[in-house]
Amino acid sequence: MNDTLLYLHLALSVLLFALLVASRVRQWRGLAVTAALLLAVTGAHNFMTRMKSPPPGWHALVGIKILLALHVIAVVFLLARGGTPERERRWRLGALVSAAVTMGIGLYYSNFAR
Ligand code: HEM
Repeated sequence: MNDTLLYLHLALSVLLFALLVASRVRQWRGLAVTAALLLAVTGAHNFMTRMKSPPPGWHALVGIKILLALHVIAVVFLLARGGTPERERRWRLGALVSAAVTMGIGLYYSNFAR
């Protein structure tokens, strides 16, 4: 169950990252917002289950990961609503950087640190 939810979390994050790379959040806004909300729910579950016997540095880095993930989710909401082309470009670039770091920290702790 825990692994299934971790894989679901991974699949949702890849989907959201792909929508950001392809700049298609507005066109697929229902899908993007649903994925963002499900990431928060599955992420909260991962947080509660993976907190037991954490490897060194887990709390600090996963704390940073969660703040960056919240930035990604907030920007997905903004992009789904839409803005000027200049704002959308800036929001999207920021979200891509945060999403890449978020995914990097998540993948490191779930695959290499244990
Ligand atoms: C507030 C929302 C989120 C929370 C609370 C959260 C929390 C977590 C936690 C606790 C882990 C497991 C770390 C470990 O194994 O010790 C994880 C893994 C991961 N997270 Fe998140 N996360 C959130 C949102 C996101 C978002 C928005 C993305 C990407 C854009 C993302 C990408 C990942 C990835 C790629 C993994 C590794 C999954 C795997 O290896 O199967 N997360 N997350």
